[in-house]
Amino acid sequence: MSNRILMTGVGAYLPEKIITNYDLAQWVDTSDEWIKQRTGIAQRHMVADGELTSDLAINAANEALNHAGVAASDIDLIVVATTTPDDTFPSTATKVQHKLGANKAFAFDVQAVCAGFVYALSVAESMMIAQKATKALVIGAESFTKLLDWNDRGTCVLFGDGAGAVVLEAEEAPDNFGILASSLHSDGAYRDILYVDGGPSVNGEVGHVRMEGQDVFRHAVDKLASVMQEVLDQAGISADEVDWLVPHQANIRIINGMQRKFGLSSERVVRTVDKHANTSAASIPLALSQAVHDGRIQPGDLLALEAIGGGLAWGGALVRFGRP
Ligand code: ACO
Repeated sequence: MSNRILMTGVGAYLPEKIITNYDLAQWVDTSDEWIKQRTGIAQRHMVADGELTSDLAINAANEALNHAGVAASDIDLIVVATTTPDDTFPSTATKVQHKLGANKAFAFDVQAVCAGFVYALSVAESMMIAQKATKALVIGAESFTKLLDWNDRGTCVLFGDGAGAVVLEAEEAPDNFGILASSLHSDGAYRDILYVDGGPSVNGEVGHVRMEGQDVFRHAVDKLASVMQEVLDQAGISADEVDWLVPHQANIRIINGMQRKFGLSSERVVRTVDKHANTSAASIPLALSQAVHDGRIQPGDLLALEAIGGGLAWGGALVRFGRP
């Protein structure tokens, strides 16, 4: 037994509006067949006018708090991973804190694009180990469709909006429970293969996503495989002990590549990319929430999480889910 960082609740929220590949094919030169074959995506959710990233985050957070049986007033840390904050400042996290009534929490955003959730999880874990907080909300929330150039078929078909959240609690528990390992990496040399062509200091604009898809793809499988091996080694666990791979949902071919590389059976991989597309920092907690609430993931199951995105920034984590 020792002081462990347990993942005790999960929640998610998707905006009501659904855009199918067939809808997109009416606006840009693409087809359901192309998108499904290259990415596995069939549809994505999209925020309504006036619906903000913070609104998605708050809905997901409330579900996670209910699931954990924790009151917002008991939360002392909120980390929101987002690339699409409501405002340039203040942080989306402080808005979420206020609207949840989490009055004793300190709150801030983390920006690591598609790797944002894994980054936020690791940051929260580190602060909890350092005893800066005992109960935390880690949220991934994105209105990513706001960054899309709807004339660029190479990117606009890939992304969607949504949010997911987890509750972390520092508690005495067996050493093999909670967050067992995490690892983060970045390499700014690859900035130009995935970026947004705008920003407060560059031109005062929000900008649009620009991507060299094949280059990103090439980095994805290698870097994800290496960070996953790293967290397995850190924890002294072999891949066949992993109950669930809950990967970032960018492309079914990347996900299947990881499954094959680690010799996992297909049923042990959570896949939501067909319904959600790539929701950036929200994709892992959205997938996690779905698999927990439909009963696939049970307390005590060992989860492997991994993600890569703009930066490049990537990371992985191993978590034994729930309370002992
Ligand atoms: N519909 C129809 N045709 C298209 C579309 C589209 N939406 N987009 C591109 N094409 C065309 C291209 O113009 C090209 O045509 P050409 O041969 O006449 O020039 C052809 O399809 C092939 O294009 P490629 O870019 O070579 O297609 P590829 O097989 O590499 O698939 C994709 C593109 C899906 C973007 C892939 O490279 C990929 O998934 N990369 C990973 C990027 C990613 O997931 N980014 C998300 C953020 S980072 C992350 O989360 C990991």
